[in-house]
Amino acid sequence: MSLARTLLHAALDTRWSTSLDPLLRRAAVAATAARAKAMGSSARGASSRAALDALYARGPLLLGHRGAKARAPENTLGAFRAALDDGAHGVELDTTLSGDSVPIVLHDDTLDRTTNGRGKPTDHDADDLAALDAGSWFPGWGKEPVPRLDEMFRAMPDGAVVNVEIKGPSPAFVSLERRVVDVIRAHWPRVQVIVSSFHPAQLLEVRRLAPELPIGLLFADDALLPLRTAWTAPLLVPDALHPPASAVTPSLVHACRRAGIRLNVWAVRDEHEAARLLAFGVDGLIVDDVASCAPLFER
Ligand code: G3P
Ligand code: MG
Repeated sequence: MSLARTLLHAALDTRWSTSLDPLLRRAAVAATAARAKAMGSSARGASSRAALDALYARGPLLLGHRGAKARAPENTLGAFRAALDDGAHGVELDTTLSGDSVPIVLHDDTLDRTTNGRGKPTDHDADDLAALDAGSWFPGWGKEPVPRLDEMFRAMPDGAVVNVEIKGPSPAFVSLERRVVDVIRAHWPRVQVIVSSFHPAQLLEVRRLAPELPIGLLFADDALLPLRTAWTAPLLVPDALHPPASAVTPSLVHACRRAGIRLNVWAVRDEHEAARLLAFGVDGLIVDDVASCAPLFER
């Protein structure tokens, strides 16, 4: 690692900046509320607002992280079916582009960990990716293809919820947001959607292309400082924040509620953490183990 990079990491990872994170997040939420109020109904289109409210018509949302990550090979059709079978209202998934610019469902930058392929997904076209085995690495499972995003949507029943997390950005993915929006629009609102990303520029592009779609800003404690405090929320006025479970406090929940911002929390480990977060009043949980959390959502 170069000296400059080492110094940058040190500056961003000092204890003082970490302890500032919760304060900066609450300040970002308050500033977002003020900006949304100042902008009036133009902050979010009426249709985006209606689509957002529809997501929560059944109460808090239960989404399977990458499908049913605890018991199935992540981001495969089998994992999505397993999540719904276990009682989820829908799923979270990660999308990126194949070499022939088709939105596919994959988490990592490379194929190496979760498939029998090698290298970047952009080194392969979507047909080649569909022929790979993304399932057998997971104990007890057989072959599953790397799904196209469109194929995944076609497999979803009416009324299911899909949180599409857009990966990137990268120079190889200049058309990613447009292509993802095109796929979503072929299935929405039969399938309900919220689009999320760690990268505000991607979400701004989604809102420009498809103002009807709700957007959620992801952040993480271990991300570089610009991606961990939600400081861009006042610029973006997102419909939801997507914090990691470790970042959720009652005061953040109250601030978001006052601001009219939904909170969808990831990646919830077990039913104890799920129960604690639901008691705080969060709006949605993205969980690895759907089966253990589903009883908390039965009404
Ligand atoms: O969308 C929630 C969560 O999936 C974000 O992190 O790395 O699991 O995609 P990651
Ligand atoms: Mg994800």
